[in-house]
Amino acid sequence: MFKVRTYNQISKKGLERLPVDSYSLQDDCDQADAILLRSYKMQEKDISPTVRAIARAGAGVNNIPLDVCTTKGIPVFNAPGANANAVKELVLAGMLLSSRGILSGIDYVNSLQGQYSDAELSTLLEAEKKRFKGGELAGRTLGVVGLGAIGSRIADMALSLGMKVLGYDPALSVEAAWRLPSSVERMDSMAAVMSHADFITLHLPVLESTINIINSDILASCNASTVLLNFSREQIVDTSAIVESLESGNLGKYISDFPSSKLMGRKDCILMPHIGASTDEAEDNCAVMVAEQLRDFLENGNITNA
Ligand code: MLT
Repeated sequence: MFKVRTYNQISKKGLERLPVDSYSLQDDCDQADAILLRSYKMQEKDISPTVRAIARAGAGVNNIPLDVCTTKGIPVFNAPGANANAVKELVLAGMLLSSRGILSGIDYVNSLQGQYSDAELSTLLEAEKKRFKGGELAGRTLGVVGLGAIGSRIADMALSLGMKVLGYDPALSVEAAWRLPSSVERMDSMAAVMSHADFITLHLPVLESTINIINSDILASCNASTVLLNFSREQIVDTSAIVESLESGNLGKYISDFPSSKLMGRKDCILMPHIGASTDEAEDNCAVMVAEQLRDFLENGNITNA
């Protein structure tokens, strides 16, 4: 039996602007054996001497001080694949939003509210709808950078939509390579993916080697119609290089789950509030996966997936 205490930094502190280090888990968790968290940016001071394990209800672990955990011998669990379906579906939405006149069409329809009868509306829209014409995904090429749990599912989905799929992963395990459909064309460099794909979707973890991996050098391989999607992490992309590439015609559109003030308000960017994994199903899957890992560790000392 475990005693569970829940803590929510937003409901406790309100939505006032707080510098990151002005709040802490310490008060609530100073007797905890384990901490299970989602987006809270954990600091060394949050890890009291009683803590024996930390678990992240998601795939990325970049909000946990891994170096501190390693020094203290504290295993860090995560939930790889548990929210992959949710991210996959939002990447599909990102591709559709960027290739069809969905957002501008909805804005236009809303702007007409209260001005016309339904009969007039129908005549007007028939005349105007050519302004919102788009292109289909079938027949286009998707480059998937990072072929883990999320990237490989996206590759499968894109194939079933009739897209051609190019794949690149700087660290693909042999097992993961075997799981990939044979119709995914494996490329030997990221530049090759960038120069041959209409859409490029990024699914890399934050590591020293992946920070700003999308920079002006690599973006030089894209072109004015390339759509780049980032549902991975903000740290892997140099945002200033994205702005320069959009402005110089080296990139067509940037779709990201990580808004930045440099990108907000641009017509060639679609920004979402980090909702790739925000579905009921994904949250349940992640919570159950890490809770089971923690229980197995605390009760039996087993370390799975740390
Ligand atoms: C992940 O790392 O899997 C996602 O960022 C999860 C989340 O949105 O919290």
